[in-house]
Amino acid sequence: MIILEAKQLKKIYGSGPTAVHAIDNVSLTVDRGEFVAVVGTSGSGKSTFLHMLGGLDRPTSGCVTIDDKKIFELKEEELTIFRRRKIGFVFQNFNLVSMLNVYENIVLPIQLDGNKPDKKYIKQIIQMLGLENKLQDLPNQLSGEIISARCI
Ligand SMILES: Nc1ncnc2c1ncn2[C@@H]1O[C@H](COP(=O)(O)OP(=O)(O)OP(=O)(O)O)[C@@H](O)[C@H]1O
Ligand SMILES: [Mg+2]
Repeated sequence: MIILEAKQLKKIYGSGPTAVHAIDNVSLTVDRGEFVAVVGTSGSGKSTFLHMLGGLDRPTSGCVTIDDKKIFELKEEELTIFRRRKIGFVFQNFNLVSMLNVYENIVLPIQLDGNKPDKKYIKQIIQMLGLENKLQDLPNQLSGEIISARCI
């Protein structure tokens, strides 16, 4: 069952002679449960492509369908809610909220969505990542490795 489909995605940054064709006609389908890695040299367009797939940036042309929804047909607010509920995105620089501790960062997206965190499930994730003793720490008190572990 296809869960994600990208069709002929193009992204051009800028215009005229300095325009950068970051991705040019990229198509992809991903089945439910499939694990996909996008690899390529620096500047080849991996981040650009993932930003399109995650609905963080709009393509110049082409479309992305997730769970049978053409995500770029959604209004900005609908897309924000869709992203919050359906998409997990780990940024190269993490983007943790520096004033919130580890536990608060983990549950923030759930609370933003107006829900109460499922404590049992959150505890399982915390244990899996070995963060039991770090929950009160702020992001800047963590080492890079530990922040990475939280994001796997
Ligand atoms: N906001 C932007 N404005 C203009 N050009 C951009 C922008 N973002 C990316 N680019 C350009 O688009 C191309 C693809 O960049 P992208 O960041 O997607 O590559 P990448 O494969 O993720 O690279 P890396 O491995 O270094 O992270 C590069 O030439 C980059 O300079
Ligand atoms: Mg990148």
